[in-house]
Amino acid sequence: MTDAPWSRIPIDAQSVDAPLSRAAIFLVVAVADRREHLDAVRAVLDDLTGLVKTVGFRDLGGRLSCVVGIGSALWDRLSPAGRPAELHPFVELDGAPHVAPSTPGDLLFHIRADRADMCFELERLLLDALGDAITVVDEVSGFRYFDSRDLLGFVDGTANPLAAELTDATLISPDADPDFAGGSYVVVQKYLHDLPRWNALSSEEQQAIIGRTKVDNVELDDDPARPAHKTLTTIEDDDGTERDILRDNMPFGRPGAGEFGTYFIGYTGRLWVLERMLEHMFIGDPPGTYDRLLDFSTAITGTTFFVPTNDMLGRLAQAPDEAAESSSGGSLGIGSLK
Ligand code: HEM
Repeated sequence: MTDAPWSRIPIDAQSVDAPLSRAAIFLVVAVADRREHLDAVRAVLDDLTGLVKTVGFRDLGGRLSCVVGIGSALWDRLSPAGRPAELHPFVELDGAPHVAPSTPGDLLFHIRADRADMCFELERLLLDALGDAITVVDEVSGFRYFDSRDLLGFVDGTANPLAAELTDATLISPDADPDFAGGSYVVVQKYLHDLPRWNALSSEEQQAIIGRTKVDNVELDDDPARPAHKTLTTIEDDDGTERDILRDNMPFGRPGAGEFGTYFIGYTGRLWVLERMLEHMFIGDPPGTYDRLLDFSTAITGTTFFVPTNDMLGRLAQAPDEAAESSSGGSLGIGSLK
């Protein structure tokens, strides 16, 4: 049988490991209070793959994908009987002198494609479907900048885990949390850069802050007294195993308004790993050696979400009372409905 090569390209919601793309939209929304609003959200979550196919099939080469994350408070409204072990709201970090604020958000839609119009179209249809069940909290359109550079001029994403390591880094393991295995945690932070001040530094000073050379992206040894960004964000387990996360940061901005930013997004199967990275950046490791990247980059949002698998999304679509009827065990925990 000879299938057209494009007919096997997966278009599926919840592909955390979707390919890094040329364009992305980061949409954070709040869900209104009433029961009917929750039902409208359940219906959209249940049909997310259908909506991604509606847009994605129009150009399979555009590689459209969409991941939805659910915030801690909304999770309790949707599935009150069981929750992912590490899910909690983003913990504000008050370092000196920099603060990582914790900001609201019930749902995150991370839409990726190689065409900005496909991201736009999916966002439009999603918002149509959600209607007055939600209000938009934040909406950012990101773009790939040359060879995956951030607006500070450095190649961003190099040390991401490779394909073989992705599952371990990004998905919750059955040993850690059997009911939520295969799900993931995602943290987003919107940073604004002070580009004039950053660009007043020499390349050597910038390189010491990041820990890589600017032109050719080679890793540098850093000063142990003042660790670089890449060192502060290298995390090891108690047994010395290095623990990675998957980052898909995107630049965004409006030069006319003097706005230059990085939208940070990190997926992890172990939320504590990403939280430890943030502690090292904002407080320092040891305390006081905070990340000098923050002297030129201000975090203005910070929100944590759980990313259910497609199966879990389907089960969330059932209101708890319906779920109880269809569950022989009687427990409403999403894991118990598998
Ligand atoms: C303004 C925001 C940020 C910018 C511009 C930025 C930029 C960079 C750059 C240029 C690198 C080196 C190349 C690479 O390996 O990707 C890097 C590495 C890294 N960053 Fe960031 N980053 C930001 C925020 C964060 C945050 C908030 C985290 C985690 C909480 C993080 C985690 C990491 C990790 C894990 C690495 C790889 C370290 C290693 O070499 O093993 N970054 N980042």
